[in-house]
Formats: sequence, structure tokens, C-alpha cells
Amino acid sequence: MAYKNDSLHVENVALAGLAMQHQTPLFVYSKAAMLSALAAYQRGFAGRKALICYAMKANSSLAVLQLFAQNGCGFDIVSGGELARVLKAGADPRKVIFSGVGKTKTEMRQALDAGIACFNVESIPELDVLNDVALSVGKVAPISLRVNPNVDPKTHPYISTGLKGNKFGIAHEEALVTYRHAASLKGLRVVGIDCHIGSQITEVTPYLDAMDRVLDLVANVEAAGIPIHHIDFGGGLGINYNGDTPPEADALWTQLLAKIDARGFASKQLMIEPGRSLVGNAGVCVTEVLYTKTGSDKNFCIVDAAMNDLPRPAMYQAFHGIVPCKPQPVRPAQEAIYDVVGPVCESGDWLGKDRALNVKSGDLLAVLSTGAYCMAMASNYNTRGRAAEVLVDGDMATLIRVRETAEDQMKMERML
Ligand code: LLP
Repeated sequence: MAYKNDSLHVENVALAGLAMQHQTPLFVYSKAAMLSALAAYQRGFAGRKALICYAMKANSSLAVLQLFAQNGCGFDIVSGGELARVLKAGADPRKVIFSGVGKTKTEMRQALDAGIACFNVESIPELDVLNDVALSVGKVAPISLRVNPNVDPKTHPYISTGLKGNKFGIAHEEALVTYRHAASLKGLRVVGIDCHIGSQITEVTPYLDAMDRVLDLVANVEAAGIPIHHIDFGGGLGINYNGDTPPEADALWTQLLAKIDARGFASKQLMIEPGRSLVGNAGVCVTEVLYTKTGSDKNFCIVDAAMNDLPRPAMYQAFHGIVPCKPQPVRPAQEAIYDVVGPVCESGDWLGKDRALNVKSGDLLAVLSTGAYCMAMASNYNTRGRAAEVLVDGDMATLIRVRETAEDQMKMERML
């Protein structure tokens, strides 16, 4: 993303032109940025047996899935809906793994029918149900156990998943006994181990600690006579939202692979489930300034995007950069510190606090790093249609999602 000829561009396409053509709020993604994020992982795994399973919950738009499928990715899914989406986008089901703490029998049957690579199972009751479902359809379900390494990922509490108090995974101490149980069930085949300790992780140490804990378990489980064919190390690598400095994917994996090799597990297949780090910095949301308003304590810049489009600030007090689509002209009267807020009727509907802006009605702003967990978490609150999405590739911009209308929103409903 850069200013060219006084106008913010994604690759070679000006955001102002896209906003004129498709209106706002509008998500704009860069294909090159997604592929370059993927390339960092591919470099990290060069020469290894590894499968990158994009955690599609981060951004599940069909064209985004298509792009990753075409570039060799597998997918990490968490629902029957995600399975349907990813198959529609052309994914190879043999590269799909199914995570999540609450899979239903119907979802298990759908995934068995599709022939996915692995179910990441999170409890003994889930193992038993999956075993029953598999036997009832005459199949054997490939499984991995998601273990909870009890490592603090040092991120927001809502997106920490690998601590004892979290609902996720099987406690480290329970893992061996759970593997023995899984191995005893006829409808299951143990193929791997997995963990995922959290999201937006910007430090290396939690990953190194978690890897040590997982490799200890691999050794113990194999010593008990249960072979582990793959190690799935989850996702979680953070991105730069506000001066954050996460490690590059390839640099991180150089360190993790050294641990794997040192323990004699170099020949194991590796899997990972990155979401945010593949798409987060590849997207922006273009929004128009509707009004500026001077309050007694604060100034407000009211824009046409809101918490239903960009839920991360309201949910996690998350920071997203907000910049003008045209460099700000000198307009002394408008220069001020604003809270950037949306039109939704909630005080929690803010996109940025205390931002220095020089804006007036009609100006366009870009909310940065909105490729992950924005459109995928967007809602229709206040009967606001979900935004349109455009994917830019060099000079070319393709509309990959049309703006949702009020009619679209009401079509599933029935009058009395
Ligand atoms: N694998 C599993 C099992 C997960 O639960 C997640 C994310 C991922 C992979 C991908 O993690 P990533 O690489 O994207 O960090 N909505 C929150 C993030 C929730 C993450 C949930 N699990 C946010 O906007 O920050």
C-alpha cells in the first residue's frame, strides 16, 4: 500500500476510484500481499514434508479461499459451513483438517463423506462420538489430539487458547491416557498431534516452549506404541497493527524446526494452521467520513463503517491504523484529535480512539490491517448490509463480494 499521485493505492489501484465505483464501506485486498505472506511460510518449510492449512475463519470469502487453494494450501476448518465453503472454492478435501471444540455429529458425517485429512479432537467424549459416527457410516476417522501445553502466549485473554483455564484442548497430563483410549477405538486411526496456543502472538518464546511440550508428548506417545505421523503446530503468528514486531514466519520456523530436528523428529510431516498472518495485513477497509462533531470532552469523526463491519476494536479493544486516502491537505480548522466512530447505536461502536486527523465530510479514510477477522466476523447489526469486497491484482480489481442489501438480509425470514 502506498500513496501514488497523492492518492492511496493497493498495488496499482487507487482506493478512491474503487470507493467511487463500489461505494463504502469497502474491503480491498491485495493478492500480492497474501501470496507474499504465504511465501514466507513456504520458504520456512522448503525441503520439508509440510502442509500449510490456512485457518479460513480469518477470512473465508470464496475468492480468498480459491487463491490459497490454487497456491497449494490446505485448510483448517471449524464448522460444516466452512467445509461447504472450502469445497465450493475448489479445495482438495485430503488437505482439510477439522478443528474446534464442539463438532456436531452432522458435521462429523459431512467431513467423513468429504474424506478430510484429519479431525483435531479435543476431548474423550468427542473421540467416542466420532468413533460411533465413523462406525455407523463404515469409515475410519483419521484423528489428532489437540493438546493444551499450558503456555502463556502473552496476547489478549479472549484469544489465548493454550492455557489451563481455556476451554481448548486436552490437558498435557491427560494426553497419554487419551491417546491410549483413541488407539483402542475401531472407528478411529491416530495420525497426529496438534496444538494452538493463541492468536496475535508477537513473541518467539511461547512458541518455543509449546514446541518443547508437544515434542515431549510425541516421544511419550510413541514410546507407548502409538505412532504419530504428523505434528500440527496450529497458527497464531501475529501481525503488525501498531508497531508490533512479530517474527517473520520463516525465521520463526527456522528455530522451531531446529527443535524438531534435535529431538529426532525431522522426518515427521508438519502441519500448521495460520490465519491472521496470511491475510491480516493484506486488507484495508475504505470508509467515508459522514460528519465531524465536537463534543464537550471529545471530537468525533463519524464514518460509514461500524462495529458490524469491523468488530475487533469493540471486542478486543484492538488497534487498527486509520489513514486518509488522500494526503491530508492543510485545513487548520479541521485539524483535531478524534474518536473515529460508526453509525451503530452503541457507545462501543468505535474504530479508533484519539486519532489526529484533518478531515471533513466526504473524505475517505482507510482502516488498516483489516484482512483478518473483519469481514469474517461482520454482522448485520442495525440491519446494516455487509460491505462489498474487492481483490486487487496489479492493475486489476475484481469485485469478489457484492454489497448486501436490506432485501438480502430479510430473505430468510417469514412473516406471521
Ligand atoms: N487454529 C485454531 C485451532 C484456531 O483456533 C485459530 C484461531 C487458528 C488456527 C488461527 O489463528 P491465527 O493464525 O489467525 O492467529 N477473532 C480474533 C482471533 C480469534 C482466533 C481464534 N482461533 C481476533 O480478531 O483477534
